[in-house]
Amino acid sequence: MNNYNWTEKNKELIWVDDDTLNITSTIIDRHIENGDGKKLAYIFESDDKEVIQLTYKDLFEKSNQSANLLKKYVVNKGDRVFLFLPRIPDLYINFLGVLKAGAIAGTMFSAFGADALKDRLSNSGAKIVFTTKELSERILAVKSELPELQHIFIIDDEEYIKEFASQKKEFSPVPTRSEDYAFMLYTSGTTGKPKGIVHAHAALVQQIETAKYVLDLKEGDMYWCTADPGWVTGIVYGILTPLALGVTSFVHTGRFEPDLWYSFVEKYKISVWYTAPTAIRMMMAKGDELVKKHDFSKLRYLASVGEPLNPEAIEWSQKVFEGKYFHDTWWQTETGSIMIANTPDLPLKIGSMGKPLPWVDAEIIDDEGNPVPPDTEGNLAILPPWPSIMRTVWQNQEKYSSYFLKNWYISGDRAKKDTDGYFWFIGRADDVIKTSGERVGPFEVESALVEYEGVIEAGVIGKPDEIRGEIIKAFVVLKPGVTPSEELKTKLQEHVKHHLAGHAYPREIEFIDKLPKTRSGKIMRRILKAKELGQDIGDTSTLEEY
Ligand code: WT7
Repeated sequence: MNNYNWTEKNKELIWVDDDTLNITSTIIDRHIENGDGKKLAYIFESDDKEVIQLTYKDLFEKSNQSANLLKKYVVNKGDRVFLFLPRIPDLYINFLGVLKAGAIAGTMFSAFGADALKDRLSNSGAKIVFTTKELSERILAVKSELPELQHIFIIDDEEYIKEFASQKKEFSPVPTRSEDYAFMLYTSGTTGKPKGIVHAHAALVQQIETAKYVLDLKEGDMYWCTADPGWVTGIVYGILTPLALGVTSFVHTGRFEPDLWYSFVEKYKISVWYTAPTAIRMMMAKGDELVKKHDFSKLRYLASVGEPLNPEAIEWSQKVFEGKYFHDTWWQTETGSIMIANTPDLPLKIGSMGKPLPWVDAEIIDDEGNPVPPDTEGNLAILPPWPSIMRTVWQNQEKYSSYFLKNWYISGDRAKKDTDGYFWFIGRADDVIKTSGERVGPFEVESALVEYEGVIEAGVIGKPDEIRGEIIKAFVVLKPGVTPSEELKTKLQEHVKHHLAGHAYPREIEFIDKLPKTRSGKIMRRILKAKELGQDIGDTSTLEEY
């Protein structure tokens, strides 16, 4: 373990006693006690240009009301309460309300379809879910299969609004232990359904440290983290750390559009901007003229996460943002905070993810768990424990254990370390797909496809794409007598969007006669991918037939 002095840093958080820590005291209540309630916590702007501002005091009072409401519905310490909401104030308010009530907050991206919701709500045994009238239909479609779900709170329903408004604005955060769970979110692997990654209150100390040290966040900043709280970046760097540091965050509740995004940076005088490579490449594709129409003089620091940040994107940002460029950062849902990064003071090696943070022992190891020499490809591994590491995989100890080899936490990424200690990303060690920075498991997409009448089986891979990093491509085997057609492709895409998620559908579909499989019947996605890329298909000795 890295012997960084977290004990000292922990003194900056608000503890009840040595072991009692509810992070909401640090991230929100403290500002009120310090007399900073008037400060803006969030500014929201929707696509129809509606602007909503929330001060720290507003957030304090409303999250207290939320916690009181949850208590009224007998939410206890450790209960799971989920949020299925767009990026509107209710998402942020109730996320904090759940934590104040001592329960575990789970988030679900608003593009999820009924099957994706069912998997998550059922596995977690969620008791309550917050949603909107519109989105609630997808939950109602599977409600009968969710025996543990007791209430659906519809935030735009009149009764709910009245009941919420009648709650008291005072609440004393439930005294959780520092190791108690604070939030969880589901993420994809190669096989099986998504796994519930669970984080503890104690993680905050490291999350704050990274926000300061890597994102250069300081009091007085106008900050924009473009990630949705349905993903870990949107929770850690969109809710917990900006609030803890007392900065003002901007939230765009609508869809991505380059010109609109530039105008937000200008209008809200954004100083720190944390976004993703796909968005940067989409802006880049729109050309430099658009950039020149805006004033970026208030921008101080730019960072990126989620997928490889290509050198062209960095160079482009340097050119158009007056020398300022996007700093690549690497981490995962499981690590709970940024691990490797191009920090403000680190000389840039373009194309590298940067160096492990001072409190991180990262290494490249072989499949037996032994470090490899510099400039050699291997598994990117980190020495546990660290404060923000996941505490468990919800009800799946076996999966949790599978992350560890000898003393190491294995990330599932392949990488190299050079002689100067910089890390270079190579790719995933497994079949996990990264499309527009979002993690999608091929198995989930395959499962959704085979549910469709007329499909026998499907194999799904990530296909390299200039803008999105990867796109999802599906190879589909149809039942005899079913005619392949362009219409059928569209129907299959609609089916996956509807059942799984709006972002997880295959942009490309190819009908084939049979899938390459191992003798034990497992689909060999590696072969599909090699074939797609016109590469050598490698060792096929374990293939059943090909
Ligand atoms: C996977 C984790 C927590 C951040 C958001 C994504 C890929 C992440 C980088 C980077 C290349 C990256 C890895 C990783 N990834 N950052 N800077 N360069 N790849 O979290 O959804 O848990 O995904 O995203 O493959 O394992 P996530």
